[in-house]
Amino acid sequence: MRAPVTELPVVLDRVSARAGTMIIVDSVSLSIASGSPTLVVGPNGAGKSTLLRLCMGLLRPTEGRIMWGGRADPTPTRRAFVFQRPVMLRRTVAANVAYGLRHADHPHEKIAARTAQLLKRVGLSDLASRAARRLSGGEQQRLALARALARDPELLLLDEPTASLDPAATRSVEEIIRMAAESGIKIVMASHDLGQVKRLAGDVVFMLRGAVREQTSAATFFTNPTTEEAAAFVRGELVV
Ligand SMILES: Nc1ncnc2c1ncn2[C@@H]1O[C@H](COP(=O)(O)OP(=O)(O)OP(=O)(O)O)[C@@H](O)[C@H]1O
Ligand SMILES: [Mg+2]
Repeated sequence: MRAPVTELPVVLDRVSARAGTMIIVDSVSLSIASGSPTLVVGPNGAGKSTLLRLCMGLLRPTEGRIMWGGRADPTPTRRAFVFQRPVMLRRTVAANVAYGLRHADHPHEKIAARTAQLLKRVGLSDLASRAARRLSGGEQQRLALARALARDPELLLLDEPTASLDPAATRSVEEIIRMAAESGIKIVMASHDLGQVKRLAGDVVFMLRGAVREQTSAATFFTNPTTEEAAAFVRGELVV
């Protein structure tokens, strides 16, 4: 019998990513295990999005190695990714989710019921037949989360999903993320918002100029950061 495939832990062993001569991610070693959300923080250009893309397998390291649950095969089985600006299909809200389910090889006869369940989970039941591209930014982000959840992920990677949202929309997206985490999905999320990091993080990965400078519990990161740059970042100073 084959062991069930698992995505966790995600282990990065001296992973680098280059674009031409520029080094974007610089020899990062990191282990991401199941548990409460991991928040990836750091200034613009630190390499957060690139790190998430590596963890998703969307980008191959130029050096080093990534393992998912002990496998080096980057094919995502139970991983999902939500981009900062989600791309909506030119279809209804429900059709966007159903598309995700078909992609995840969901049994055909169960797609309608599962779509309804997912839309309920993200609070979009009333908008099921609306054109997805007509949704507000916050609604689109919730739809993107429903599509990602349709893949029944074990690992959900989120790249600043609330960056362009107002506080109310941010709150509903955070609520969905919290519920997903409570249901056992491992969340790895890039964020600029220190308040959000405090609200959601179990642990924090602090990046600067392509390197991971700190990986620690959220409590330690905020009260007792080890590097001066992280301390300055926590104080809200401009770190570049
Ligand atoms: N394909 C690429 N080719 C060249 N440079 C790239 C490429 N992808 C990323 N970069 C550069 O690598 C650096 C890190 O980019 P990345 O998007 O990972 O940072 P980030 O931490 O997510 O930043 P932000 O907070 O602005 O989203 C940036 O300077 C970016 O311009
Ligand atoms: Mg980014």
